[in-house]
Amino acid sequence: MKVGIIGMGYVGLPLAVAFAEAGSEVVGLDVDRRVVEGIARGESTVEDVPAERLAPLVGDRIEVTTDHAGLSDCDAVIICVPTPLAHRREPDLAYVDSAGRSLAAVLRKGQLVVLESTTYPGTTRDRLAPLLEESGLRAGTDFHVAFSPERIDPGRTDHTIRTTPKLVGGLTPTCLDRAAELYSLICDEVVRLSSPEAAELAKLLENIFRSVNIALVNELAMLSDRMGIDIWEVVDAAATKPFGFMRFEPGPGMGGHCLPIDPFYLAFKAREYDFPTEFIELAGKINQQQPHFCVDKVVRALNDVGRPARGSRVLLLGVSYKTGVGDLRESPAIRIAELLRELGAEVSYHDPHVESVPDLDLRSLELGEALSGCDVACVVTAHPEVDYERVVAEAPLVVDFRGVTRGIEAPNLVRL
Ligand SMILES: NC(=O)c1ccc[n+]([C@@H]2O[C@H](COP(=O)([O-])OP(=O)(O)OC[C@H]3O[C@@H](n4cnc5c(N)ncnc54)[C@H](O)[C@@H]3O)[C@@H](O)[C@H]2O)c1
Repeated sequence: MKVGIIGMGYVGLPLAVAFAEAGSEVVGLDVDRRVVEGIARGESTVEDVPAERLAPLVGDRIEVTTDHAGLSDCDAVIICVPTPLAHRREPDLAYVDSAGRSLAAVLRKGQLVVLESTTYPGTTRDRLAPLLEESGLRAGTDFHVAFSPERIDPGRTDHTIRTTPKLVGGLTPTCLDRAAELYSLICDEVVRLSSPEAAELAKLLENIFRSVNIALVNELAMLSDRMGIDIWEVVDAAATKPFGFMRFEPGPGMGGHCLPIDPFYLAFKAREYDFPTEFIELAGKINQQQPHFCVDKVVRALNDVGRPARGSRVLLLGVSYKTGVGDLRESPAIRIAELLRELGAEVSYHDPHVESVPDLDLRSLELGEALSGCDVACVVTAHPEVDYERVVAEAPLVVDFRGVTRGIEAPNLVRL
């Protein structure tokens, strides 16, 4: 089978490698010439796809291009383009629209088109299919259309594309069969749904579930702080229950391309039905407050040692949005740095996964130099490469937003 992939980012590139390793020919298309040129040289911008895995496939089973003509002889084309938010947290489907229009120009009878980008229910049927029909072909008869959400979790190694069940929903039973056949090449289990809408909403449910539960534990962390109770001890204790509880950890707020954004796709669509999605709004509100709460915690810790925030040198340990990856998208570290700067603090950072943060005009410092030159070190994202015992031993003051210093008792240590 020849598979085309539109959008060679965090989702598209691992998918291309999975199909190529399963023996398919892959055409990877991206509108960004630098992305295409990098992949053509065997370079990977996605940490989960090491260059040693990618390089032997490029030019052999994976061909990369900016030219849509390369998609015309593919049996299936999968769309993995961004779905961000526009102003006022409304969906921005411009990338999906543009991918759909460009594909319509080369679409051929019998092809299968699958949308993987996270979006609200109805996008595949009511938005993508009509765009593809501008080709003159009819969706569901001349060509097939399905939705199948990506469930990738960057940095995770215990579950892979192969071992994570794949949801698919097609416009027609034949669309579903074709999509199930496609994904059975790379996934051990394909879960068939009755419609693209059910698959679109299932993906949103997964992300909203996480967002709401993270907000719940963050709200309890703020309350525990006031009550003088250790939230980490509470979470550890609750997690000993073998049923009816799922562990979520407090932290500096949510980041990444999914959790801070996707729930608002549903909130937007729900408004068309006069339905306020209150859990989504409330979770968003609480999670957005978390960087403010963290900065307040730093200010109080400095105050306790007789220092004002103004002029204090604050080191952020970890600036990516999650452990083990270098992705800065929507990272709460950026907001924390901005808030600290507004208070007159001098901000620096150390992150083994992030060389520089252009938005803050900062470069990662070597750990020893960073620790010796700060007044307070804040654990914002806990990467496994950092030795936190050393951090507590060498920094004058440590504020830990991630609970990685549990087990260490020291007078210079404050935890969320
Ligand atoms: N990153 C994740 O962990 C993750 C997980 C699950 C779902 N998703 C969803 O998958 C989708 C893609 O996310 P991502 O993280 O891979 O984004 P990304 O920004 O890493 O990659 C998207 C790529 O698409 C390219 N692109 C944009 N418009 C295009 C067009 N019209 N034609 C061709 N290429 C185009 C961009 O240049 C970019 O290289 C989003 O809807 C996201 O919500 C992401």
